[in-house]
Amino acid sequence: MATEKSVHVGVLGWPITHSCSPLLHRFWLKQYGIDGDYVALAVAPEAFSQTFAELPERGFSGVNITVPHKQTALEAIMTMGGTASGTTRRIGAVNTVIFHSDGTIEGRNTDVTGFVENLKEQAPQWSPEGPAVVLGAGGAARAVCAGLLEEGVKEIRLVNRTEEKIQELMQIFSSSIVPVSWKNRETALAEAALLVNGTSLGMAGHLPLELSLERLPATTIVYDIVYAPLETPLLRAAQTRGNPVVDGLGMLIHQARPAFEAWFGISPEISEELRAVLEADLRERGAT
Ligand code: ATR
Repeated sequence: MATEKSVHVGVLGWPITHSCSPLLHRFWLKQYGIDGDYVALAVAPEAFSQTFAELPERGFSGVNITVPHKQTALEAIMTMGGTASGTTRRIGAVNTVIFHSDGTIEGRNTDVTGFVENLKEQAPQWSPEGPAVVLGAGGAARAVCAGLLEEGVKEIRLVNRTEEKIQELMQIFSSSIVPVSWKNRETALAEAALLVNGTSLGMAGHLPLELSLERLPATTIVYDIVYAPLETPLLRAAQTRGNPVVDGLGMLIHQARPAFEAWFGISPEISEELRAVLEADLRERGAT
């Protein structure tokens, strides 16, 4: 139970029952003996703006933002006179908010570093030299593209069902983005160094991702940002043919780390034990 002096943070989403973030941050709070709490707040879209504006007076030092509020949160922060980095504004989505003690509000998108740090950890052989194929053009895929471009990737073959969204990303980012229609997604795999699923396809309760890996080189790193199930059909298919794989749970943990540091002043460790706790939780919920 949090005391009056403790640091109060949480996550806003709708629905929120699926979120692993309370378990993740509470693990670190306990590990570092920090007097604080991390709560899940179910906030319907129509209640978001008001609930968000009231958080500082309710004693919150910060929050994470999840589906479907990431874009609305950025708008709310800007309306309230807050700040967000150039990358966060280009992506158009915020997943971490800091309510500073001087009253200022800052929005960040830690999915960008979360995506990259996890890639470097799970596939240290990755180099930005070769082309990357990214499936999806929603908020998550935008963070993926921003991360890859920051790392120096020269060619992103961006595949999305709705082609207007690819055009939007081409305008936001750079000429490094090569548009690919959804029906040509398998052709785009040739000579790719990295394949990323940035769509919701393959997630528990969603449609499967239909993608033959026949044209994918054997050394291509296959990264699925979906973490429920932990071993998605895409990752299983990649592993079966010997491709190195990167899972989405690592991205979840790596995006949480800079948020925790911003609120509590400690860059928390990513341990085997933490991963095991989160994997057990996903299994218990039938998501693996
Ligand atoms: P998030 O913020 O988590 O990225 P999102 O913005 O809703 O969520 O994006 C979901 C992504 O999954 C989009 O790229 C979406 O494609 P569209 O832009 O065409 O909607 C993709 N997606 C979802 N269902 C899909 C389907 N059945 N076939 C192909 N792509 C799909």
